[in-house]
Amino acid sequence: MHMKRLISERSVWPSPHFVQEHRQDMVAVCAELVTGLTSSPARLAPKYFYDALGSRLFDAITELDEYYPTRTEAAIFESRVREMARHVAAGAVWFDLGAGSCAKAASLFGVMRPGAYVPIDISVDYLRGSVAALQERHPALPMLGLGLDFSSALELPAEADAWLSGHDLRAAARCVFYPGSSIGNFAPDEALRLLGQARALCDGGGAGSGLLIGVDRVKAKAVLDLAYDDALGVTAAFNRNLLRHVNRLLGSDFQPAHWRHVAFYNEAESRIEMHLQAVGAQTVAWPGGQRTFADGERLHTENSYKWTPEAFEGLLRQAGFGEVTHWSDERGWFSVFWAQAS
Ligand code: AVJ
Repeated sequence: MHMKRLISERSVWPSPHFVQEHRQDMVAVCAELVTGLTSSPARLAPKYFYDALGSRLFDAITELDEYYPTRTEAAIFESRVREMARHVAAGAVWFDLGAGSCAKAASLFGVMRPGAYVPIDISVDYLRGSVAALQERHPALPMLGLGLDFSSALELPAEADAWLSGHDLRAAARCVFYPGSSIGNFAPDEALRLLGQARALCDGGGAGSGLLIGVDRVKAKAVLDLAYDDALGVTAAFNRNLLRHVNRLLGSDFQPAHWRHVAFYNEAESRIEMHLQAVGAQTVAWPGGQRTFADGERLHTENSYKWTPEAFEGLLRQAGFGEVTHWSDERGWFSVFWAQAS
């Protein structure tokens, strides 16, 4: 049985779609969760929102009237993709950070004409399914799915370099694609580090390499508050679902019903903050530890930083990028930046 499985996995190579799987190090994941839960104030990283249900709840969020970022960004791409294509080299290798369904990148293929597609996502199984489906629609485009968590470090595994060489793509331009304003989950210093790593990834490619990134902008607090605290309570469910996911990962006994969704724009920090607030005092236990939360005590689950175009351009330059261009919607709510590597 075991032998058979190995052989069938091998036989996938070198067919166009090959998923490099990186097994989650569960010891490290649990250690990270416990560190956050025992900190003051307690915190959990937003990457843990995205189990299968969390990914569906996020998709539902993107359909809410209040949540403008996804449709605003989509409209910018739709109306400006031809202008963007003057900057992004045809034949470039596209590295899609947090690719998920791969739908955003795929919608640009027709105009952008990539030479290869390398989607990267922490949700290995979800990515495996979406890249396989996409490969069927684009049989001639070399695709390499990478299941890895780039939030701590964005680095290509050696196998990816080998795959690029095997497809004669070592000298091709590289386009790092990071849509959706996911960069907002990083504090400015962490964002700078990740952008620096994106810049370094571009270094591996030829002339015309760069970063195409979606960024949510500073705007009226009332608009932001509603976008993260919608009338239907979908964002609240998304926030509480984190506790179900953590229960599965860590073996903890959070009771999601005993936590209230709290979300607001912190103007001084230019960020949305999401928290879960204990409704009544409670003790949460996991194998090897526990923590007591007082009534009203908060667990910090997400920051979503908002940028002005000027500040974000400054960050891109600090990260080592050269020429910077951006496109936005009429209301100036969202921007898509192209930052040339050199
Ligand atoms: C996926 C990080 C861009 O910050 O807007 C949506 C996540 N959280 N509603 C965002 C999110 C609550 C989203 N990002």
